[in-house]
Amino acid sequence: MQTIRKFAAASMLAALSAGSTAQADGTVEVLHWWTSGGEAKAVGTLKEAFEAQGGTWNDSPIAGGGGDAAMTALRARVVAGNPPTAVQLKGPGIQEWAQQGALNDVQAVADAEDWDAVLPPVLAEIMKYDGDYVAAPVNIHRVDWMWANPEALAKAGISEMPTTWDEFNAAADKLMAAGITPLAHGGQPWQDATLFEDVVLGVGGADFYRAALVDLDQEALTSDTMVAAFDQLRKLRGYVDPNFPGRDWNLATAMVMRGEAAFQIMGDWAKGEFLAAGKVPGEDFLCAPTPGAGFVLNSDSFTFFKVSGDDNLKGQQVLASLIMSPDFQKTFNLAKGSIPARTDVPLDDFDVCAKKSHADLLAAIENDSLVPSMAHEMAIPRSVRGEFLDLVTEFFNSEMSSEDAVQRLSEAVARAM
Ligand code: BGC
Repeated sequence: MQTIRKFAAASMLAALSAGSTAQADGTVEVLHWWTSGGEAKAVGTLKEAFEAQGGTWNDSPIAGGGGDAAMTALRARVVAGNPPTAVQLKGPGIQEWAQQGALNDVQAVADAEDWDAVLPPVLAEIMKYDGDYVAAPVNIHRVDWMWANPEALAKAGISEMPTTWDEFNAAADKLMAAGITPLAHGGQPWQDATLFEDVVLGVGGADFYRAALVDLDQEALTSDTMVAAFDQLRKLRGYVDPNFPGRDWNLATAMVMRGEAAFQIMGDWAKGEFLAAGKVPGEDFLCAPTPGAGFVLNSDSFTFFKVSGDDNLKGQQVLASLIMSPDFQKTFNLAKGSIPARTDVPLDDFDVCAKKSHADLLAAIENDSLVPSMAHEMAIPRSVRGEFLDLVTEFFNSEMSSEDAVQRLSEAVARAM
């Protein structure tokens, strides 16, 4: 079986690389949530590459950063018996859909192209169900990034990016005094959770992060360290402007571009926005990891739902192969702000932030401080993540004390497990 699959995929891929559009077509309907300027540019590179092979691409974008709206739309489509051919999906969500028997595998393509040899093992594991690839990863995003406008910092007399939360708070106080909003933020649950997890890593370190946000250990969840993390989140709440509720993340990035705000704490899809607006890293904007040591991993991938029809099935195979091609991984990630999922794509043409991300990723793997993003669905089931998002958002939008937050969070997690 394995050999037949391998042979079939090999002949299809040979047709692909020979540029034979007649044989390498196929149709895909792609459900994704990449609708901001940088995101649209990035997904556009996939559409173009697919169409250049003679394929038909039907676009199904569902607006809403972080993908919560897209996941609701996906469920409705599957329940209606009409799933899209390819879906932007990640982390444990891949396993959940695979367990329900909803996914086709692309193992034949993975065998023919030896994906195991070019993907970091930690990522390859997430893409597989029962030993077979059911998803293809496009990138590695880092969540614990801080973006800044150098002119805004200079106006407040800040010459260095902060490296501890105390330094961050001191810089933010200076910005407040200079009349500049310290932190551009959008009050949406996934954005609040993004701040929260970066703070948890910074305050508690990687082992603590893992215990609290991945293993859901009650002792960690109720610890003084967790109280300290909520205290820092409360500080951050004081540094956002009054119009933050509901704001989309890319509009917060635009505030930093315009110098209306000094910092944004957001994954490196924010860099995609800066780049799409023609901004140059190191000049127009600065990047630095959020205070703390480690790397919060987020990786986008596409899964292939059970559809019928030769054209759709072929579309899935062709798309999987394209996603994993070194050329595509380079072009896409230059636009998206992330780095390639493949380990063999040279980073020479990537900017200083991407190179730092790569170096820090290798260091984090080496010293065991690589942690999966809870906010971006890499760590825990959606149902438990939902409890974190609800609580963190309620904390951010109320006067709840850190002690109460910790108590309520631990109870909510215990109920959801
Ligand atoms: C995704 C990114 C996306 C961001 C904002 C994250 O969860 O991984 O690809 O750009 O959400 O929409």
